[in-house]
Amino acid sequence: MTLSPVLSALPALPALPVLSVADVHVVHRARTGGPFSRDRVYALTGADLEIAAGETVGVVGESGCGKSTLAKVLVGVRRPTSGTVSFHGRDLWTMSAAERRATIGQHTGMVFQDPSTALNRRLTVRGILRDPLDVHRRGTPAAREERVRELMALVGLPKVLADALPGQLSGGQRQRVAIARALALEPELIVADEPTSALDVSVRAQILNLLLDLKSRLGLALVFVSHDIQTVRRMSDRVVTMYLGRIVEESPADEVLGRARHPYTRALFSATPGLLDPIDPIPLVGPVPSATRPPSGCPFRTRCWKADADCAATMPDFRAASDDPVSGTGRYRCHHPVRDDQSTHDLVTQAAQAAQAAQAAQAQERR
Ligand SMILES: Nc1ncnc2c1ncn2[C@@H]1O[C@H](COP(=O)(O)OP(=O)(O)O)[C@@H](O)[C@H]1O
Ligand SMILES: [Mg+2]
Repeated sequence: MTLSPVLSALPALPALPVLSVADVHVVHRARTGGPFSRDRVYALTGADLEIAAGETVGVVGESGCGKSTLAKVLVGVRRPTSGTVSFHGRDLWTMSAAERRATIGQHTGMVFQDPSTALNRRLTVRGILRDPLDVHRRGTPAAREERVRELMALVGLPKVLADALPGQLSGGQRQRVAIARALALEPELIVADEPTSALDVSVRAQILNLLLDLKSRLGLALVFVSHDIQTVRRMSDRVVTMYLGRIVEESPADEVLGRARHPYTRALFSATPGLLDPIDPIPLVGPVPSATRPPSGCPFRTRCWKADADCAATMPDFRAASDDPVSGTGRYRCHHPVRDDQSTHDLVTQAAQAAQAAQAAQAQERR
């Protein structure tokens, strides 16, 4: 399509995000504590995030911090307890159920951690890939068959596997089927939740490369959730750090290692340093608090070497790194962000000294 000269002379409008979540909370009833327990699990708290077309957003954080909950919210599998989830500016949860299913089903795809449970074991590969095409009535039956062949070629599955059942495939092949199924209706966004964690180490790189290749060929936006933070960093344009149900930082991937401002992001990425310059990780003292009783203020304060009374009092709002007198283009929620001139090595020393001082103070109290 060619634009009229007048239209093409206009400056490009900033693209609306494909997907955005605003002040989203997900609260579960606790599994522990029995059927009459009033315990609540704060799986996701006040999450704000926008995903732009074609962008790869990595999500990192320790187990239980809410990554999968966020992933499910993004693809409309999980309804938030409060807050809004919008697809191209339209609120998913004010749509009718049919419209929501159509919107989510046709424009987003999800790839789960374990392909052996995510695929229907009684359907052949052909059946699995045809299912979304049939459900959303895409094209003629002949066109659907053609699309199945195309999808298999796209993810590198040999044609002969069309009649195989998931149980007859390797883990890597099964994950290729799951990816092909997610792509069946040409979505704009794929959310992959730990897509390689259940696979043999030897096939992980193949699946990651496949995702990257598809993303660039198809112009997909990709949300990539993993606890393998170095892989996330390499795959992503932007890295989102979560802690105890909160998004605490968003950082461009090329700034996250040495220039992230949140102490937790720096600690997380210090734990698997590059091979060239190995250092001890930043020591974090104490356990991750329970998501049933998150601490007041900043949830990270109980393990943070910089925490003080301010941190116990309030959770700070997001601050743009570009508002600081330092470089950086991300945003973070922290009262005491890491300064630009502090190397990870400085932080290791700082955290170790703080831990020693805290131990000494405790010993003093006990006397
Ligand atoms: N259906 C559920 N019922 C109760 N608690 C849940 C449920 N799903 C997740 N949780 C809890 O919510 C928190 C976040 O879980 P999840 O999103 O799976 O974290 P992650 O993917 O980062 O490991 C955890 O404390 C987890 O135990
Ligand atoms: Mg998870």
